[in-house]
Amino acid sequence: MSDETHTFLESLGLRAQQVESTLTKLLNSDLRDDEIARPNHLLAAMRHGVLNGGKRLRPFLVLESTALLGGPDDAALRVAAALECLHCYSLIHDDLPSMDDDDLRRGLPTVHKAFDEATAILAGDTLLTMAFDIIAAPQTQLPDRQKTELILALARAAGLGGMAGGQALDLLAETTDPDEAAIIRLQAMKTGALLRFACESGAIIASASPTDRQQLKRFGEAIGLAFQLADDLLDVTSDSQALGKAAGKDAAAGKATLVALHGTQWAREQLSGLVEEANRLLEPFGERAAILKAAAEFIANREN
Ligand code: IPE
Ligand code: IPE
Ligand code: MG
Ligand code: MG
Ligand code: MG
Repeated sequence: MSDETHTFLESLGLRAQQVESTLTKLLNSDLRDDEIARPNHLLAAMRHGVLNGGKRLRPFLVLESTALLGGPDDAALRVAAALECLHCYSLIHDDLPSMDDDDLRRGLPTVHKAFDEATAILAGDTLLTMAFDIIAAPQTQLPDRQKTELILALARAAGLGGMAGGQALDLLAETTDPDEAAIIRLQAMKTGALLRFACESGAIIASASPTDRQQLKRFGEAIGLAFQLADDLLDVTSDSQALGKAAGKDAAAGKATLVALHGTQWAREQLSGLVEEANRLLEPFGERAAILKAAAEFIANREN
């Protein structure tokens, strides 16, 4: 392992600890003033879906893009936790029998296996709603204008033109024959949109210039494509032990992926190109962006 990779993994681990401690506090059993009850089994299912490992890469990108542009760490941590809640919701629903029908996630039984399907659906619903609660709450210390911008950007990244819409296209593509452009579009939606938000949110939190915000957004788009390409590659080349989730499922389900279309060698070349593009987009930020460059490298070459 190179020194750079080692340093990056150390930073990712430290950021993951920060975010997990915030998530643990948010998912505790204490009643809030506005609540009559916190249904224990629903909370337990939410905790199972969130506090169960995971790379915490999206939170890392929120925190590091904010740090790059000099924004406040406390607010970034709340936005990072909100995004991770929303991401975990997307995984819980993605694993449902009516979607990818998976039994294993992050090395543990999926939420509908550990609990039941209705509870898994509700755990997802609650985490999605909670994401917006976390950003809007007074504990997120940002001016209202910035909070509204974050809420709008996250809603769009998660909704019809983003993750949920992309998931719909992904399922449709199991029985159709999308071309390369259609696959890239659906992946930019189902996976790219949340990664783009992770990077762009740092610019919103830091009140960065429109130019810097645009640059980070484009960086997020490049690593978003790389992220799903690497995921699809790992589905073919790795195993469930290393991944903590089923491998070899995409081909079996007839998923439309670029790896299925062009093969693993092409995918590897494409990944190098996307890392180069991501690095180029960070050039204006100079040395301070070294950690985000390392993140792009990690996304393309990760092993799980
Ligand atoms: C998996 O995301 C879902 C995809 C978008 C491919 P991650 O690989 O980030 O999953 P965790 O959060 O680390 O488990
Ligand atoms: C999922 O893509 C993207 C989401 C929006 C959750 P996949 O279905 O390939 O993710 P994994 O492989 O189950 O993690
Ligand atoms: Mg899926
Ligand atoms: Mg899946
Ligand atoms: Mg996958």
